[in-house]
Parts: sequence; C-alpha cells; structure tokens
Amino acid sequence: MQFKLVAVLLSLLVVATAIPLEKRGSKYLAQNSFAVKSPKDGKFKVNDVKYQAKGEVNKDRFKVKDHYPHNKIHDKKSHWHINRDLPSPCSIGTQLFWFFDDSFVYAEDGKFVGAASNSVAIATDVNNPSDITDVSITLEGEVTVAIPWTQSEEEIQYDITARYAFWTYGSCIPIDWHHSWHFWTVVKFYAFEQYETLGYTLAQYEYDETKGSLAISRQEFLYYDQTTYSYGAFASVYVSGVLYLYALDPNSEKYDVHVASVPTATANDKSTWTYWQASTQSWSTDAPNGSVRDEANAAIVGKLPFSTGSVFWSDYHNAFLLVFFSDFADSIFYAITAPTPVGPWDTTPIEIVKTQSGANGYNYGGQATPVFYGADGQIGQRLVLSYTYQDNSSNWFPASDSVVFA
Ligand SMILES: *[C@@H]1O[C@H](CO)[C@@H](O)[C@H](O)[C@H]1NC(C)=O
Ligand SMILES: *[C@@H]1O[C@H](CO)[C@@H](O)[C@H](O)[C@H]1NC(C)=O
Repeated sequence: MQFKLVAVLLSLLVVATAIPLEKRGSKYLAQNSFAVKSPKDGKFKVNDVKYQAKGEVNKDRFKVKDHYPHNKIHDKKSHWHINRDLPSPCSIGTQLFWFFDDSFVYAEDGKFVGAASNSVAIATDVNNPSDITDVSITLEGEVTVAIPWTQSEEEIQYDITARYAFWTYGSCIPIDWHHSWHFWTVVKFYAFEQYETLGYTLAQYEYDETKGSLAISRQEFLYYDQTTYSYGAFASVYVSGVLYLYALDPNSEKYDVHVASVPTATANDKSTWTYWQASTQSWSTDAPNGSVRDEANAAIVGKLPFSTGSVFWSDYHNAFLLVFFSDFADSIFYAITAPTPVGPWDTTPIEIVKTQSGANGYNYGGQATPVFYGADGQIGQRLVLSYTYQDNSSNWFPASDSVVFA
C-alpha cells in the first residue's frame, strides 16, 4: 500500500513537471489527432434517446429474431496481420469507432512491424460492424498509440521494465453528437510481463465528421488509490449531464456492482463525485472502503458473477440494460434490466445469445452497444456484441456479432 501510494505520487510529480511549457494552462495534458475518412457507404443512425422508463420494463422483448456472427474485426484493405485484444465499441455521433487493447502488427511472413498498448479503428459498413478502417495503424505499417502519452510516459514507452500501458475493459460513454468519453486502466510495468494497476485515466474523444478528424485527449489523471472501488472501470452510462460509473467489488467475487455519479462538467474533480447507498436509496459524499464487501449498498448484487459488460439505455426494452459475460472466459451474453441507472435492477439473468467459441471453448471481454444500424426500429432492438475470440495463444482476435430482438 505504502509503496503504491509513493509510486502514484511520484508519477503525478513526473507528469506535472513534464508538461511542455507551451501546454501549461491549455485544457489537456496530452492529445493525439487522427485523420479519419468518413465512411462512404452509409451512416449509423442514432435516434433521439429518452433515457427514462415510462411504465414497465419490456421483459418480453429479449427473444432473438436474427443473430449475425460477423466474425473477426479487421480492415480488409490492410495486408498486416494484427493481433489485438478486447474490442470496445464507441459510438460518436453517427459513427461507430472501435478501440482495442494490446495491438501487435506483423507482416505476412511473421516479421514484427510494430505494437501499441491500444489502437483505434472506425466501422465502415453499416451492415457489418466487423468491417473496419484502421485509424492509428496505417496501411504503411506506422503504429501510433491511440490514447496519448504525456512526454514523460512517451520517453519510456519501449522500456519493458518501466513502461505504462492503458487498457480498457468497458465501452465508451457517448456524451453528445461529437463527443464520447472512455475510462482506461493505467498499468505500470516493473519487469517483463509484470505490472501493477495504478488506477485509471479518462480519455475524451472529439470527432468532427466534416473535417474528418478524431482528437483524443486526457485532461487529468484520475488515480484511485485502492481505498475505494474502481468506478468507471467496469462500465459507465451518461444521462442528462450526469455520468454513472460502475465498479465491480472484487471482495464479493464480482457479484456486487457499486455506482458513483458525477456531473460531466466536473468529472475530473473527484471531490464532486457521490456514491450510491442502496440501503438508504441516497447518494453519499463519502467514498466507501473498497477493501470490504458492502452488499447492502451495492446497486446490483448479481445472481451470476460479472466479468465484463456494458450499461446503456434501450428504448426498445424501456429500460437500462447491463449486457455482460459472466466468467472471464465465457461465450454467453446475458442481460439484466432496471428503470434507472441505480435500479432497482432485476438481477435474474436473461440469456441473449451464445457466441461461437474456438477449441478452447470460450471467448472473453464481452461488451455491447445499441448503436442502431440502417434498418428501422428503436434503439436497443439491435445490439452489436463484441469480444475477444481465443483458441490458443497464437490464434485470438477481436470479433463482433449482432442480434435483432423480435
Ligand atoms: C477499510 O477496511 C479495512 C479492512 O477492514 C481496514 O483495515 C481499513 O483501515 C479500512 N480503511 C479505511 C479508510 O477505513
Ligand atoms: C491454434 O488454433 C488454431 C486454430 O484452431 C490451430 O490451427 C493451431 O494449430 C493452434 N496452435 C497451437 C499452437 O495449438
């Protein structure tokens, strides 16, 4: 604990002193900008979203009418062989971006081309979200990390005994027509393949479709100090100016989910966060002790343990859904529902669909988005489901399916 605290303080100090002078006083710590060609063959439609249950949740609307396994998420124009982990769906305006964790690029003959702890691509076919155009990995083989480093982080990015990595386990949070936010877990390596989790950083995405630019910035570090739950690391949802940030309680074997909330305007100021107390149905300004189980104050106490998942509003079901994988190595998508972000959650899992798994018998990193493609219908009637498919250590890739509810 002591060591971690010191490490956190030191890294904050390093960051603070490493910001180039010209950036002092500007609104971000670090920023990457990418040119993004607007997909030419159609738009992903997003309806006006109501975010408010009127009457009963439509529990009878989970019967799957169509299931499309789209298979590997990849760029058909790219001749690189790219291993990449944990696809996270991210809708911004009318487009669907994908963010990935560790991305390793090889030539066809197996020669290593480049690697980054995360990467970004854009979906280019409204009928097949697995069909992408890479953004941070070019056809020429340049590999740029999607989530920007500060200068001091960048300097050690190839030092395997000191480098940082940013990995995400949740989908991003659509804020408005041009912006989505996304929580990334910050890890620091101290030896080859050995690392510790320091906390997380909030990445903010701005997509300008007319200019064809995607800017990714970090305003602040948000380190949780392991004395409270890791809010935002599991899932997040935005409703009318407020973020609801979900954390799995590891002390509960991942059965309990706790929720914090904060207005988007002050998200980077942790003193403005409040914490849901289910026992009194109220928000507290005191962060709970993250090292003990507090089942009575959890917003969700699952009937199955959670591993990864996504929370979003579904017009079609007149409810907030948590769509999730249960064990880390799983291949079945389940849903639970609630009329508000804090509940009451009906925790009886509804099985949506079993995705095809490889010889190992499992996939992992399941997430979902209700981004609504071409056809008519309501938000939530069609879901894009994503996960990492893994057969063995040399055969794994990000994949997506979509389902349409009857
Ligand atoms: C949290 O709970 C643990 C275990 O009971 C205890 O040792 C620790 O002091 C508590 N932390 C705080 C800040 O109360
Ligand atoms: C990994 O899985 C693929 C596809 O199932 C198979 O062709 C390959 O031989 C496997 N490799 C190892 C090392 O088992």
